[in-house]
Amino acid sequence: MTTIAVISDIHANLPALEGVLKDVAGRNGILGTYHLGDLVGYAPWPNETVSLLKERGIPGVAGNYDSTVATRYKHCGCSYEDPRDIELAHLSFSWTLEHTSEETRSYLGALPFRLDLRPWGGHMAGPKITLIHANPTLNTIYCTEERPDSFCLQMAEKIGARPGDTVVFGHTHQPWQREVEGIHFVNAGSAGRPKDGDWRACYLLLHLGGDEDAGGGSHTRADAHGRSRVRAEFVRVDYDLKRAQDGVRASTLPDEFAEVLEMAGGRTGQ
Ligand SMILES: [Fe+2]
Repeated sequence: MTTIAVISDIHANLPALEGVLKDVAGRNGILGTYHLGDLVGYAPWPNETVSLLKERGIPGVAGNYDSTVATRYKHCGCSYEDPRDIELAHLSFSWTLEHTSEETRSYLGALPFRLDLRPWGGHMAGPKITLIHANPTLNTIYCTEERPDSFCLQMAEKIGARPGDTVVFGHTHQPWQREVEGIHFVNAGSAGRPKDGDWRACYLLLHLGGDEDAGGGSHTRADAHGRSRVRAEFVRVDYDLKRAQDGVRASTLPDEFAEVLEMAGGRTGQ
């Protein structure tokens, strides 16, 4: 069985990324590793995070944070309601702009907004796995688990996804998956800033041609012609949280960001 690893929303948390890559390296049958963007923001290693991804040759798509930092936009496009959260988001964005090298910004600005994988071949007609950060219409729209099936189908239509295809995204920092009319939707969660109550780095394994006996949080699906099968598995990695928190506190970023890493839920937008 071959597997694709997908890492989303690293947000400059280098210890979390290192932990995830180590976990991936310890597995057999990994066909490739991809990221879903939001590489920077909220933590003190934007340049190191991008350098490591470049060094490992890990391709991926642009998150809202990446394109806004690349273009020095007025804000990151994150959504928040609490006034303190708004203030913190602005602090994070301005800190990141100030501490991100030109080389890093060039990399962020060159990221595509979508990648289509066809690991089963089949040229243009074969089943595909589409990687996006958030939403095909706007990269700041949250596709949460509460969204109705109609929302997912709207995404699928914009993407051109058909039964048998898989759509993979992040942005909400909360992993979930659902199948709607034969299309598999998977939110990869967040490696560097989870918001589902579990501080451990989250990443996704897509097992191709998968295992019928998968249980627990797994999900197996064949397409309409029985040609493909994807089983999505969420992995949690017990990375060096203290190093990440110490890094935040040693920087001029707000100390709240160190607490958020441990709380894994609540404040400060995505
Ligand atoms: Fe994010």
